[in-house]
Amino acid sequence: MTQTPTTAQKATLTVGDQTIELPVITGTENERGVDISSLRKETGLVTVDPGYVNTGSTLSSITFIDGEKGILRYRGYPIEQLAEHSNFVETSYLLIHGELPTSEQYERFRQRLRMHSMIHEDMKHFYDGFPSSAHPMAILSAMVCSLSTYYPEAMESEEEVDLLVCRLLSKVRTIAGYSYKKSVGQPFVYPNNSLSYCANFLYMMFGLPTESYEPDPEVEKALNLLLILHADHEQNCSTSTVRMVGSSQTNLFACISAGICALWGALHGGANQRVLEQLQYIDESGGDVEKFVAAVKDKTSDQRLMGFGHRVYRNHDPRAKIIKDACHRLLNHLGVTDSYLDIAMRLEEVALNDEYFVERKLYPNVDFYSGIMYRAMGIPTNMFTVMFALGRLPGWIAHWLEMRDDSQNRIHRPRQIYTGEQLRNYPT
Ligand code: ACO
Repeated sequence: MTQTPTTAQKATLTVGDQTIELPVITGTENERGVDISSLRKETGLVTVDPGYVNTGSTLSSITFIDGEKGILRYRGYPIEQLAEHSNFVETSYLLIHGELPTSEQYERFRQRLRMHSMIHEDMKHFYDGFPSSAHPMAILSAMVCSLSTYYPEAMESEEEVDLLVCRLLSKVRTIAGYSYKKSVGQPFVYPNNSLSYCANFLYMMFGLPTESYEPDPEVEKALNLLLILHADHEQNCSTSTVRMVGSSQTNLFACISAGICALWGALHGGANQRVLEQLQYIDESGGDVEKFVAAVKDKTSDQRLMGFGHRVYRNHDPRAKIIKDACHRLLNHLGVTDSYLDIAMRLEEVALNDEYFVERKLYPNVDFYSGIMYRAMGIPTNMFTVMFALGRLPGWIAHWLEMRDDSQNRIHRPRQIYTGEQLRNYPT
């Protein structure tokens, strides 16, 4: 439940001979922020914070992270407990509605996701327009934005909101499955609504219209876990994008489409694809992990150790530990030995004992091991970021709804410090 933050403390700011007091906002976990919203009005100054490293853009009651202690909680529930006991559908409900569902609410939600799994038949033709080499993230973003043309209705009542949210959650999975089929030149496989959310996705990916296909329950379990771990991460780049775009009152589909594009980048969700490409490169060039680590430390190259480092976590990423264990379990179950896993573990060991990484507090993040799991499931590398988007969707939706329902919401419009030319005349 949202709690009103306290503002008992004040911060004092002196600029030249002017001193002003600014409220200090304290959240439910005692994290504090100086409210500078009156700064410009009172002093004519703005704050400068490239990359928003130190900017709280909103109050939010969805996800709590303590980067120093390696804590991640959705709506108060520790990620470790959700990973062990929940499934992706239930966690999505939790993020979107704020509470775990009762069994009745869960059934209704699940039923709605089942009912809305198909995309309009006309949308299938959109796939014909993309080259077979198209990156599935581009397709996903375009298709999600296109959904707004099929569901242009306003979201006035709770019922309308719920319906549109379920449509989006369910159809994104189908769009992703079809993107894969398009990329391998196979016929689309319609959703099988007798299956669970994750099993149905695997069915659309790996099933064929001509053969029966039964998803492996262990793979389904692993997929649930991966999606739960990616489901939200407070004001990250893509979620902030969803909020930024939504602040101008753009529709939900367009905002999510923008979030998908933001996620695509290599420094964000695109890192999982890059991690695997890096492992492949190391493997193919002889497996010299030390040499590779030396190369990423070299400041004259812009190479980084992908899957390492995080803006917020400065101790460990709690998701990385869960994924590493799950990765071993899945590979054991499938009877897969993967040289990439060996390289990843050696990379981790070398990096964690290297002064460069220790000093900068760089640890494996959520995407260091996720790609190895996806690979073991048979998901191709260029689909990894799509998998991340599937997982992050309930988080984006929850933030979009929170922003929409916030009476304090204003269009997001940062300021700048201009550093260009001063007034000059056009040469005549
Ligand atoms: N490899 C090598 N050096 C690194 C790495 C890395 N992966 N990450 C950070 N550094 C170094 C930087 O070069 C910098 O060094 P310097 O102080 O000598 O200049 C220092 O560590 C701080 O790095 P910043 O880029 O300032 O940290 P920032 O918080 O802006 O970036 C980020 C965080 C983008 C995650 C970064 O660590 C990175 O690029 N990691 C690799 C990409 C990746 O895995 N992204 C996924 C993040 S998790 C997610 O979005 C799901």
